[in-house]
Amino acid sequence: MAIKEIITVPSSILKKISSSVEVVDEEIRSTLGDMLETMYAAPGIGLAAIQIGIPKRMIVIDVSEERNEPHCFINPEIMKPSKTIASFEEGCLSVPGVWEEIERPDKCSVKYLNRDGKECEKNYSGLMATVIQHEMDHLEGIVFVDHLSRLKKGISIKKSIKFQKNPVKEDRLAKYHNDKKS
Ligand code: NI
Repeated sequence: MAIKEIITVPSSILKKISSSVEVVDEEIRSTLGDMLETMYAAPGIGLAAIQIGIPKRMIVIDVSEERNEPHCFINPEIMKPSKTIASFEEGCLSVPGVWEEIERPDKCSVKYLNRDGKECEKNYSGLMATVIQHEMDHLEGIVFVDHLSRLKKGISIKKSIKFQKNPVKEDRLAKYHNDKKS
C-alpha cells in the first residue's frame, strides 16, 4: 500500500466522470488499499478513486472514531434515497480549508461490489449516508461545493486555493465524535 497525492481544486481531473470497474482483481484491491492508506493519512473519512487520479468507480469510507471500520464500495449505485433530508457540514480532501452545510437525503440504500467482487446491498443513515452520497458525487465529477450557489462556490474555491498555499491540519472527525458526546 502507498500514500498517494490527493488532487485538489481547481484541477479539471476532479470533473472527470469515472467508469465502471469490469473485474475486481488484485490491481483493484491494491488501488483500494492505496485509497484507504491515503484517506487515513490525510486524515479524512472518505475518498473516491478520482481523488488520486484514477477515474474508476471506487470509494472508501471510515467514519468510526477508532479508524478501524474501513468500507470499500465498487460500482456503487443508490437504490432508494429517502425523501427526508439531513444537513451536514461537509468538507472534502480535494477542497481543503472549506466547510459548508449541504443538504442530502438522510438515508439511502446502496448496491455495490465488495472487495471480493461480491454483490451487496445495504441501508445507511446519518453520517455514513452523507459520506456515501458525497463520495458518489465524485464519480460523476461533482465536488460538494458544486451544490452551493454560483457565488458561494466561487468564494469557496478561492478560499481553498488560498488555504492550500498555507495549509493547517485539522481533525474534524475527532471534533464530530466529541460534539456527539457532549
Ligand atoms: Ni470529497
